[in-house]
Amino acid sequence: MKKHPLYVGVMAGLLSLATTLPLQAANESVAPTAVAQSQQQDAIESQIQQLLTQMSTQEKIGQLALRDWGTFGAADMKVIKQAVREGRVGGFLNVNFSSVDQNAFEELQRIAVEESPLGVPLLFGQDVIHGYETIFPIPLGQAASWNPQLIKDGARVAAQEASADGIRWTFAPMIDISRDPRWGRIAETLGEDPYLTSTLGVAMVEGFQSDNLADPTSLAACGKHFAGYGAAEGGRDYNSAYIPERLLRDIYLPPFKASIDAGMQSIMSTYSTLNDVPGTGSPFLFKQILRDEWGFDGFVVSDWNAVMEMVPHGFARDAKHAATLAANAGIDMEMHTDTYEKFLPQLMDEGKFSEAQLDTAVANILRVKLRLDLWNHPYPRATSKAERDQIIRNDQFLNTAKAAAKETFVLLKNDNQVLPLKKGQSVAVIGPLADAAHDQLGTWIYNGDKKYSHTLLPALRDMVGDDGEILFAAGLDYSRDISTRGFRAALKAAKKADVILFVGGEEAILSGEGHSRGDIRLPGAQAELVAELAKTGKPLAMVLMAGRPLQLDQTLEQADAVMMAWHPGTMAGPALADVLYGETSPSGRLPLSWPVGAGQIPIYYNHLATGRPATDDNYTRIDKIGREVFQHQPGNSSNQLDYGHKPQFPFGYGLTYSTFEYSNLVLSSRELDGDGQLTISATLTNAGKVSATETAQLYVRDLVGSVSRPVRELKGFERITLAPGESREVDFTLKASQLAFHNAQMQPVIEPGEFRVWVAPDAESGLEGGFTLR
Ligand code: BGC
Repeated sequence: MKKHPLYVGVMAGLLSLATTLPLQAANESVAPTAVAQSQQQDAIESQIQQLLTQMSTQEKIGQLALRDWGTFGAADMKVIKQAVREGRVGGFLNVNFSSVDQNAFEELQRIAVEESPLGVPLLFGQDVIHGYETIFPIPLGQAASWNPQLIKDGARVAAQEASADGIRWTFAPMIDISRDPRWGRIAETLGEDPYLTSTLGVAMVEGFQSDNLADPTSLAACGKHFAGYGAAEGGRDYNSAYIPERLLRDIYLPPFKASIDAGMQSIMSTYSTLNDVPGTGSPFLFKQILRDEWGFDGFVVSDWNAVMEMVPHGFARDAKHAATLAANAGIDMEMHTDTYEKFLPQLMDEGKFSEAQLDTAVANILRVKLRLDLWNHPYPRATSKAERDQIIRNDQFLNTAKAAAKETFVLLKNDNQVLPLKKGQSVAVIGPLADAAHDQLGTWIYNGDKKYSHTLLPALRDMVGDDGEILFAAGLDYSRDISTRGFRAALKAAKKADVILFVGGEEAILSGEGHSRGDIRLPGAQAELVAELAKTGKPLAMVLMAGRPLQLDQTLEQADAVMMAWHPGTMAGPALADVLYGETSPSGRLPLSWPVGAGQIPIYYNHLATGRPATDDNYTRIDKIGREVFQHQPGNSSNQLDYGHKPQFPFGYGLTYSTFEYSNLVLSSRELDGDGQLTISATLTNAGKVSATETAQLYVRDLVGSVSRPVRELKGFERITLAPGESREVDFTLKASQLAFHNAQMQPVIEPGEFRVWVAPDAESGLEGGFTLR
């Protein structure tokens, strides 16, 4: 292989480093010690300086360019290769999703390292969101597991698969907080809560990056979208977000801060405006918060086309102005568009962007490339098809995906113990998603392929074997189907069976980017079909697959049991069959509040109290209000006459096939010092007949603050598996520092006073105690 002399120089530097420091080869993931890490960091900084002194301005600007085929207009590989050869490209995104050349990784990288002036390797990024080829449950589903280890394992599998093809950077985790299930991208989030999202986001970062970024199986993670994207008004994607700075700092930013503290290497800007300023042009976000306050030393990438979108936002006059705003806001790398390449040289001549600023941006990117050890491992990890086949979708990965899916199912209702299904029964499987190989995969599955999906219908047949009967009539072809043609066959099957299993919800395309809904009811004629099925009087269990919670209306009464399965991924079928037949009890918990209806949105558990909080006693339902009664007679509290004052199901909620009792709440002290900590414990007892996993949750309420404080805030959780009759103590440590919030002056403060505390199965119930913060 021909190598450029400067490339050899950089390599020599790194290789000498590699002799003293544990820069890892594949499968030898040993985390560097702290001393080694700091030596490695120094070496990296000096490599960066060495490279910067050798780079021309054009090559520096080239490092800031994240390209896809579309950037080059025509999809002409010759033009693309020439740009790489000239050092005008820092990385590519979504290469193997392009229709042009899905195997371009190797050739483009070869040109970069052998033929470009300094041989700086390209960084290949991709949306590896919930799996690469082995598709895991959508992130919202994974969040329902409340299991960081599961999330970490999933990200590790995805990283091992993606790196086989040469991808070393993923545009995940999405750690936007969202309180709006109409927003299609809620499917990609980890829910509504900052503590849960922080904990699970960190786990995802740890899974992607492993404990050694230089390991060739590691992907640099990218937290997105900074910041406030999930607060799009009306749930309409890309829409304006208005978030007061205090709320931003207390609710929306903590997951980013936590992920950066855990070593996350990159951040993506939001498309949307935050308080009237497009995120991509916000020095407040990228300079003040990210760099000055948090000391982030990775790099910032714009979202796709987001630099140019500052023009329609009415914030930039034209492409040149957009480049000025983005570059000065601290966007290091430009995704898709080429305004930096076109205009930074001019802007530098005009004194609107300095060489020092350019060097900082380049350094941020090189730092991550060096940490990934791309110089030693520039190429796809799999060197042959056979090697790739051994990695992709191997049995271990499929088993991990199945195990993950099993923990994401949330049992919302289970009257008369209709679930678990019993062997020997005749089951009528009905509904558009029982055998939907594509739709069970959910949104963002660039490399997912339905031909490898395991659907529910065959999995049920396997589960039952000769011991029972599985009848099938979909009734509807797909979730939006409005034709009732299939109803007759469905009803016929239902009448013959002992129990009906309806499998419906939303197709994958109804959630995800750009796919918001105003009406979040079951689409198509599904509610009609369920109503017909219910009329048979047969026990009716319902499995829902969807990228968001759905307004269930009367189907919730008509079904005896409802289990939310989100979009469970490749192994949906076997995972669901195990849980439906009780081999494992469901253990998922809602990572968001489930609204009664779209008109109730936003509804979230950590809200403020209002001056007139609604209770069951001061609220009159619309159908209980007399005619022409006195204005104030039905009460004046914060509620909706039709939807009430509570969500359909609270945050943290989920049933198991057993029942759990909480008793004996004990606080280690009734008083807590500003730098101290408390132990809060309770006894959990499995009072049912089967082994099951409960997720005990720790909530607090700060009763009086210099600003109003939420009615509850999650501060801890723990999954505990207990055999029938077994009891165990669960202990939470609550540090006073966890009680901090931002005051009106935007300072993080811990204010003395009275606190309530709960150890609870969800955000609305639990054992209650209290303590004083001194
Ligand atoms: C999305 C990002 C994604 C990027 C690259 C954008 O449209 O908002 O989340 O990472 O495309 O595919």
